[in-house]
Amino acid sequence: MDYGGKFYLGRPYDLKKGKTETKPLLYDPDDLTTHGVVVGMTGSGKTGLCIDFLEEAALNGIPAILIDPKGDMANLLLHFPNLAPNDFQPWIDPDEARRDGQTIEEKSEKIAKLWEGGLKEWGIGTERIEAVRNAVEYAVYTPGSDAGIPVSILSSLKAPQTSWEENKEASRERVSSTVTALLGLVGIESDPVQSREHILLSNIFETSWKAARDMDLTELIHQIQSPPFDKLGAFEIDQFFAENDRFELAMTFNNLLASPSFEAWIHGAHLDVGQLLWAADGKPRHSVFYLAHLPESERMFFTTLLLTEVESWMRAQPGSSTLRAILYFDEVFGYMPPVANPPSKPPLLRLLKTARAFGLGVLLTTQNPVDLDYKALSNAGTWFVGKLQTEQDKSRLLDGLESVDSGKSGFKRSGVDKLISSLDKRVFLLHNVHEQEQQVFKTRWAMAYLRGPITRTQLQDVNELVGAHKPHISTIAGDASKADVKVDRAESIEDSAGTSTRRPRVPTGISEYFLPNTITSSQALKESMQDPAKSEILGLMYKPGLLVQADVRYLDRKINLDHVDSLAVMAEDVDPKGFIRWDDWTISPLDPGSLDSSPSPDAQFAPLEAPLNDAKSLKVLEKDFQDYVFHGAGMRIPSNPTLKIFATPGTSEAEFQDHCREAAGEAADIEVGKLEKKYKTKIKRIEDRLTKEQRELAEDQAELGSRKMEEVATLAENVFGLFSGSRSTRRISTSMTKRRMTSKAKSDVEESQEVIEDFTQELDDLRAELTQEIDEIHERWEQVASEVEETVIAPFKKNIRVDLFGVAWTPYWRVKVGNKDLELPGYGEGE
Ligand SMILES: Nc1ncnc2c1ncn2[C@@H]1O[C@H](COP(=O)(O)OP(=O)(O)OP(=O)(O)O)[C@@H](O)[C@H]1O
Ligand SMILES: [Mg+2]
Repeated sequence: MDYGGKFYLGRPYDLKKGKTETKPLLYDPDDLTTHGVVVGMTGSGKTGLCIDFLEEAALNGIPAILIDPKGDMANLLLHFPNLAPNDFQPWIDPDEARRDGQTIEEKSEKIAKLWEGGLKEWGIGTERIEAVRNAVEYAVYTPGSDAGIPVSILSSLKAPQTSWEENKEASRERVSSTVTALLGLVGIESDPVQSREHILLSNIFETSWKAARDMDLTELIHQIQSPPFDKLGAFEIDQFFAENDRFELAMTFNNLLASPSFEAWIHGAHLDVGQLLWAADGKPRHSVFYLAHLPESERMFFTTLLLTEVESWMRAQPGSSTLRAILYFDEVFGYMPPVANPPSKPPLLRLLKTARAFGLGVLLTTQNPVDLDYKALSNAGTWFVGKLQTEQDKSRLLDGLESVDSGKSGFKRSGVDKLISSLDKRVFLLHNVHEQEQQVFKTRWAMAYLRGPITRTQLQDVNELVGAHKPHISTIAGDASKADVKVDRAESIEDSAGTSTRRPRVPTGISEYFLPNTITSSQALKESMQDPAKSEILGLMYKPGLLVQADVRYLDRKINLDHVDSLAVMAEDVDPKGFIRWDDWTISPLDPGSLDSSPSPDAQFAPLEAPLNDAKSLKVLEKDFQDYVFHGAGMRIPSNPTLKIFATPGTSEAEFQDHCREAAGEAADIEVGKLEKKYKTKIKRIEDRLTKEQRELAEDQAELGSRKMEEVATLAENVFGLFSGSRSTRRISTSMTKRRMTSKAKSDVEESQEVIEDFTQELDDLRAELTQEIDEIHERWEQVASEVEETVIAPFKKNIRVDLFGVAWTPYWRVKVGNKDLELPGYGEGE
């Protein structure tokens, strides 16, 4: 169907009947030269409407740059003219299918039917899908990553093509935005007028660009330290910004430049707006900038640079009242707020102000009408208002619209207020200052499959689907500002061995390391026992390998364990299919600080072969290495279960044994102590009785002694009485009694002696028993001390940190001995 160059966005919608009319709602694209805004709550259909809009733009040959912070816009590439389930299948969300209790095949079938039915209802046939697919060249770019097409920001630091003097104001604005973006990237919020960082950097850029000299980060770092001017305003440079502080600022940028992840920002497509909008053959392009993977600060940085580039490009265009190109911003939340002034805001405001004259239409969407700077949107001629939920959103939008409209097209607040609340999904109020009337309409079915956010890992497939390849746009070969300048600029000379003076490029996003050349050529000769007189040193050559080093942190509070182990692998001979037996290549961990940041000058390089030349395979290997570490890791810690002690990592077996013996000894001592206490009371009791008995014995013996004396005396008396003949009977009986008493005393003594003997025996027994028990205790603990087991402590996955991963170049000496070519190590561990 031909709509005469107008955009078919949907059909007028009768809110009362809840039905669409049959005629199409057409939008004149030239109306967008005064820009458009789409607002509506989440799910109201904003992205759907804009996809419709962009599809119509494509069909009319209008190119677009899309800024996609949420990752929804890659959907624009999913056009399947055959509406075949198979075409949809790779894009079906398996989780969604599972939730719906369907297989992926069933779900694909269902979605294909849904799209077929939806499009039919809106009078769209397959030929229109085919046409939209072929109308423009699609591509998804991923700044800071090579998941899609990577982007190089370096061109944004190059001197502008236009003459500085003729475009002073615009050039200064470009400097300002670039500087704000750069400072934002390193976490410095700057005010162009007040911040000394901003003033210093702006002057550095201005000095360079005025002289048509390109800027790059290395140069910037140098110039921050020694600026190309002595004064800033009335002040000496050192007074304005002390040398130490400048050094610190330079360091901040240097850290950025040195960080491996920054690599991803400097390889890839230029931000050349002309090329992003039209292919070399003039075919329009729709270039999606996917930003969902970036942290907030980097999203802001990139968006600002892109907006700045668009602005510069635009200023170089002739005036136009027809729509030549679209800049689409899906969810502008945070980029153009009413009060704050993030880096993106000034260039965006300038675009909105001036773009109309050049035929560049800006289309913005947001679900946060409160977050828009309405003053900046006072030019916006087209408003698509979808359902808004909160009163606050609604009233802020109505305020905004009122101020924007200033009575031009009969905007009636009360009517619109009621209307907005009653809008359904995909139903929008179109307020167009170029039209007489407001219109309520429902958006047409999108031709692209709106499958929702696309994850980073699917981007390559999305690009492949539309045939977007990395070389579509010419790329810059690396950052000439990096330390390898000398080597990179050297002419590429390849010799018979396939080595070359030119260093092969390591894939984007992959780090590159250089092992230091620690062995001199003469040492190398000596070590390999070559005769220096017969050897000719041909030079140094680097060979690539895969270097991985990970820290594994073992944490176990229960046993007071916090220990980090390092594990390193340097695989020099990697199977091209990307299989590595990690165990075969372990090396002792390297100190990352000992690695060189650039190769020795004039060295040659062996070619970089699969899988080392392929970022995707390398990423797989990185994952594989992590798995290997995780599964193989596990710290074997000698432990003693009874003593509940664990060896401290690093102690030897003998040391741990000693430790166990010590602990067991202590435990034994305690037990012995208790036992001795117990025995002590027993022994004391017996000893007391013994003492008592001994006292009694002494008494008994004394008694016996005196009894005996008495008996002898009585006997003598009796004998004497017998002879004297007096009271003899009594005397004899007395004598008898005495004798009895003596024998009693005697038996008392004997008894005591027996008891004492018993007690003494008992004491001896007890003491022997105690000694035996003590011996047993010691024996038992000695046994315990020797019971050493191994406890395996596994690390948490999150505590495995890969801190080196990338292509490592190892230096070798190329030596000719006779007619033999040798390669001798130029690097040795521990040197
Ligand atoms: N024109 C359309 N054709 C077919 N389906 C649509 C269309 N517009 C919206 N939908 C459906 O409604 C869903 C939500 O719409 P959409 O993504 O456009 O909402 P949104 O307003 O952009 O939401 P958010 O603010 O969360 O991004 C889409 O995923 C899609 O399933
Ligand atoms: Mg959306």
